[in-house]
Amino acid sequence: MSETQAFWTAMIFLIISLIQITSSTSIGFTMKIIPITSPESPFYIGNLSESEKTVHQLVEMSKIRALSFSLQENIRLPVSYSGVYLVKIQIGTPSIPVFLLMDTGSGLTWTQCQPCVNCYPQMPPVYDSRTSRTYQQLPCDHPVCRGNPSLFRCMNRRCVYSENYADGSSTRGIASQESFGFLPNTTSVSISFGCSNDNRGFTFAPNSRISGVLGLSTGPESLVRQLGQLINNRFSYCLLRLDQGPTATSYLRFGQDIGTRGRNLQSTPIVTPPGLNHYYLSLSDISVNGRRLGFPPGTFSLRRNGTGGCIIDSGTTITSIQENAYQTIIGAFASYFSGFRLQRYYGQRNFELCYLKTSSFRSYPTMTYHFQGANFTMISEYVNVIYNRAGYFCVTLLPNRYQKTIIGAWHQQNTRFIYDLNRGVLQFAPENCMRDAI
Ligand SMILES: *[C@@H]1O[C@H](CO)[C@@H](O)[C@H](O)[C@H]1NC(C)=O
Ligand SMILES: *[C@@H]1O[C@H](CO)[C@@H](O)[C@H](O)[C@H]1NC(C)=O
Ligand SMILES: *[C@@H]1O[C@H](CO)[C@@H](O)[C@H](O)[C@H]1NC(C)=O
Ligand SMILES: *[C@@H]1O[C@H](CO)[C@@H](O)[C@H](O)[C@H]1NC(C)=O
Repeated sequence: MSETQAFWTAMIFLIISLIQITSSTSIGFTMKIIPITSPESPFYIGNLSESEKTVHQLVEMSKIRALSFSLQENIRLPVSYSGVYLVKIQIGTPSIPVFLLMDTGSGLTWTQCQPCVNCYPQMPPVYDSRTSRTYQQLPCDHPVCRGNPSLFRCMNRRCVYSENYADGSSTRGIASQESFGFLPNTTSVSISFGCSNDNRGFTFAPNSRISGVLGLSTGPESLVRQLGQLINNRFSYCLLRLDQGPTATSYLRFGQDIGTRGRNLQSTPIVTPPGLNHYYLSLSDISVNGRRLGFPPGTFSLRRNGTGGCIIDSGTTITSIQENAYQTIIGAFASYFSGFRLQRYYGQRNFELCYLKTSSFRSYPTMTYHFQGANFTMISEYVNVIYNRAGYFCVTLLPNRYQKTIIGAWHQQNTRFIYDLNRGVLQFAPENCMRDAI
């Protein structure tokens, strides 16, 4: 790049930054969420309510994610474990669609990017930075580039990054800025992202549409943190039933597009300590069908050495609960069910507590998380998984051997969540996500 070009690049950045700073009015975006249990998903793994195999796969994914959450932050999960939901967005000018895994547990948003040194095969064309009028490389002194030294570094005056995943795959590229477009009126905004031109060891199907990850964690490079005041530091989702079928759609919304969604919202603080990237909540107790179990204070607290704590995560399907508390909760469910004439079923490899279904049994129990300042009661449908075909049901909880509690998507179905980082709170209320229309 010549001196003149470098000068103009710098000027353009300055202008973009000024526009972002001076536009005090917040804006909104919306993206369509596609669960991997939808036939529309390029990762389609089958129908949850029909296939034990699908549940098994989601359980295995949840376990691996739980393991990775207990490790140091810089050991990253294989990308195929980055989420169970995908979002579709448009990038560049002229724009092209890309499908990214929605990950509330990681920060960097990246997509495969031409000119490639190594790109894995994907079905839609790979985004080409050379043909986009709005593509820019990120200067080394940009706040995003200076944010996370374990991710970004400056090399030959270019801001580069590399992420290594636990399965040996890796993505490397140039930290860049580009126009991202969203539904429905394709509002576009300039976003820092990873132009990943060197992707190794990925084993997606050759016709996969996945081209990267959308990072929504609390980290400084996350989409939420970058957009900051522009979206009032807020995003929201309402997760459709994972076995809903392709007839309905729900959305990931930012800023103004959240509108007045959510009636009678409850609110609990997000208690993530500085330097950690997950959404930690302050969980004090749990009830099974309205009966409070009375866990001692601190049972679900994050410890100094990084063990413990309660995380809400959209990329995990099945909730896992710190081991000792898990035993108590399973005991409480067993004692509840013992009041009915039900027969235990032991032929299940994923869940500990299962019963044969009888035609008359309807009294599935609820479960409540007692958070600081808020109670989150799940209706019984999401406390259990019912295998209609095989004729039994199970309590959908896993023990977490790493002493963390991770609230997964199965427990989040049909609930409106608003992550409000301005106020540092998570808000929620029951909602029928099928009504989450544009
Ligand atoms: C885009 O926005 C305009 C004005 O806000 C509205 O009239 C129009 O219907 C919108 N288009 C779509 C596709 O939503
Ligand atoms: C899964 O199966 C249920 C029950 O058979 C059905 O209602 C639903 O539409 C199916 N979902 C998908 C994604 O096909
Ligand atoms: C972390 O600290 C807790 C007590 O605060 C202790 O019980 C636990 O063994 C420690 N774990 C590790 C891995 O150091
Ligand atoms: C949560 O439920 C408990 C009863 O288990 C109740 O005492 C408390 O007031 C409730 N808190 C809120 C914020 O509704």
